[in-house]
This record gives sequence, structure tokens and C-alpha cells, in this order.
Amino acid sequence: MSEASAETTATSARRVRPARKLTGVVSVPGDKSISHRALMLAAVARGESRIRNLAPGADVASTQHVLGQLGVRFRQDGENLVVSGVGRDGFGGVEAPLDCGNSGTTIRLLAGLLAGTARSYTLTGDESLRSRPMNRIAAPLHQMGVGIEMAEGGRPPLIVRGGHARPLDLRMDVASAQVKSAVLLAALSAEGMTHIHEPMPSRDHTEIMLAQMGAPIRTEQVVEQVEPADPRRRGTRRTDERRITLLGPVDLEGGELSVPGDFSTAAYFVAAGLLVRRSDLRIPGIGANSTRTGLLAVLSTMGARFTWHHRKTVCGEPVGDLHVEATSLSARKVSGKLIPRLIDELPLLAVLATQADGTTVIRDAAELRHKESDRIELVADNLRRMGARVGTLEDGLAIEGPTPLSGADITSAGDHRIAMTLAVAALIADGETEIDDADCVRISCPGFFDMLDALR
Ligand code: S3P
Repeated sequence: MSEASAETTATSARRVRPARKLTGVVSVPGDKSISHRALMLAAVARGESRIRNLAPGADVASTQHVLGQLGVRFRQDGENLVVSGVGRDGFGGVEAPLDCGNSGTTIRLLAGLLAGTARSYTLTGDESLRSRPMNRIAAPLHQMGVGIEMAEGGRPPLIVRGGHARPLDLRMDVASAQVKSAVLLAALSAEGMTHIHEPMPSRDHTEIMLAQMGAPIRTEQVVEQVEPADPRRRGTRRTDERRITLLGPVDLEGGELSVPGDFSTAAYFVAAGLLVRRSDLRIPGIGANSTRTGLLAVLSTMGARFTWHHRKTVCGEPVGDLHVEATSLSARKVSGKLIPRLIDELPLLAVLATQADGTTVIRDAAELRHKESDRIELVADNLRRMGARVGTLEDGLAIEGPTPLSGADITSAGDHRIAMTLAVAALIADGETEIDDADCVRISCPGFFDMLDALR
């Protein structure tokens, strides 16, 4: 090994010591999901948009970089990023591949956004992204008249040819915000009504921001007829299904876009605050959208208590300050419609479950196998190294608790959420934990380890 690579390895591994208590105020960076959308929608809007609190991580930088390649201009004005929109068919031609880095949201949403431009683009990414399946967005976009070619096994690079998008009536069998969003972005340049039926609610940031920017979009919860027990009553029941309708084509209006703190990043501090004894943390200005805060819903039923302060709505998104104190937890089963509301927090829930009384079972989460890594196997393997009792299922995990954890060598596989999840476990372990390739936290929260240390 050369000296240079030895140094790289040494600097990107990170040792995490156990913590006695964590106290203070945690200021988490802007929401990654919402930041991708803010950049993309501002790019195809008319006029300028000002984005406040854009997420600082590498994934959002990938989106900004690709939009720059497509001819979108950005300028920093104090705290705000100003985006000069090019309109819905205003992207320039680009010969070079558009490099989406590690970001699944960038490549999938961009494939929909490019539907408005009658040119051909190649979309690619790093090794992890090039191993992720794209069929689920390719199929509906193809039905909308967008040309999509994929490499073997339905993986990137993708070649996308837009210019002739048609509206679509899509019935999704798996709730996925990325698929829904790709279709909605393509529908912006399709003439007519696009309908999307999702089996259960997934994050709705695209719908909220489209409405903020003037799009005629509507979301309804589907009700079904039932035989009423009492014939004098109306026989309807709310289902989990949602129907989203967008009438295209749409010219979005640029404007002020404010990004709340990232709930998914806050979640690591929520978990740390619950697990490390005598902790007391305040996390101000974070997204409180219920399609994202499923972790709090689950933890509340496991015995945790949270207090929200200063709840308000900013640019259509619920926001608030969260207060967390250490608590003891009891196990539960997590499945069904809860899953999309905490999909990115499920590995973290597994860590919490190692300290809960009883067996926590997570089902209906096969999606986790197709994220930046196979998060089911990776979190289970790492937690077992720390002494936890964890079983894997095809679509989830079973965790027995409470079990004392001990420091171990952790493999992050370059997955930012695995690195942060195991860093939380390390706080309550006996002895030090070493996380390899810990620098991968730059994907969503570059300052993560310093933020954690500041609370000790
Ligand atoms: C995201 C949606 C989710 C999530 C991902 C971000 C988004 O993926 O896991 O981290 O920003 O739309 P799926 O839509 O594939 O569930």
C-alpha cells in the first residue's frame, strides 16, 4: 500500500468513545430530500428562486453539480443560494455523462425532470449507485413516452430521452417517494391529467413544493364503501391509499424556498438522547412532516416521550423544535404503513431495539436491501459484532433486548446512514468502537462526529 492510501485509510476511520451523558442544543443541517427538490424545481421554474438552508452534504452537491452541467446558474447571496430557473424545456445539451455521485434521489428524480427536454442525456454515478435498481422508475417513465435505456440488470448508467411526455394513470404497488416524484416531475411537461395511486403515504415533499410553486396538484385520501352496521349511517372507510393528481403542462414560478432541518439527521441525536443515560437534548428547526417522523410514532409506543415546541408551517412544511430526554424502552412490532414513514431510520431503530425490553420485529422493509448498501445485513452484522442479538428476515430484522453492547470494529461499507447508526450504538458500548470509512457521513451530514462530540 502506498503512503498516500495508508494515510487516507487512517484519516477516514473514526474511533467513538462511550458517552456518560449528552446535553445541549443540536443544530442539524437542512433536509437532504427537500434540498434535492428545491434545486430541481427551482431549476425548471421561471425566474429566480432563493433557497434558504440548503443541505450541505455530497448528495445535494451532486444534484447542484448536475444541474450546473445542464446550464442552470447559481449564486450565493449571504445565507441563500439563488437559482436562475431555465424553464421546463430549457436545459442545454451535454455530451459528458451527468454524474449523480452516490445519490439515488438525484438520479431517479432527474430522470423524470429530463422528460421535458428533447435531448438525450447519460446519467451515472459511483459504484454503489451503479449497483442500484432503476427499473421501478424506468417502467412508468417509459409508459409516459420518455426514452430510458439502462445497463444490464436495470442499473445505471441510464440514457434518458425526453421531449414527448404523456400523462399517466399509475397504480404503484410499493410506496416510494422517489418513483412518485420522478413521475410527478415528468408530468410537469405532459399535457393532461396524471394520476398516481400510492398504496400508503410516502414522503410528500415534492407535492408540497410543487403546490408552493403554483402547480395544480391535489392529494386525496381514498375512501371505500363498506356495509354499515347501522343502515342509517353512511358506509365509507378511509383507506391507507392516496391519490395524487397533477394537471400538466405546468410552468412553475420561482420564489422563496426554505429548507427545514433534516429530520433523518436529527433522528441520530434523538436516538442518542434516549439511549445515553441522563441526556437532555434540544433540536430546533427540524422538519416535523408526519410522512417522515414515523420513528417518533414508533418510539412513543415503546415508552419514549418527546415534546415539540414552536410548531409552525414554513413553505408548506411542518417545522418545530424537539426536546428529547433519556428513557427506557419496551419492544414492539413495526410493519405495514409505518414503514415508509421511517424507512431511512430503520437501522437506527434496530440499535434502539437492542436496549428495549423484549423482541422488536421489523417487517415489510425489503426495500432496505436496495439502499446505499444492503442495510438489513449490514446493520445486523455490525450489531452482532457489538454483542447484540439480531436475526435477519427477508424483509426485516428481529432484535432481542436489552443486551449490553461492547466496542467493536465496524464496517460502514461507505453507507452514511450505517456509519451514523453505529456511532450511536458506540455511545452506549463498553470500550471504543472503530468505524471504517467514517468520512462517508459527508453524504448527508459532514459535521456529524463534531456535532456529537460537542454534546459530551
Ligand atoms: C427519498 C425517498 C426514499 C428514501 C431516500 C430518499 C426521497 O426512497 O429512502 O433516502 O428523497 O424521495 P424510496 O422512495 O425509494 O423509498
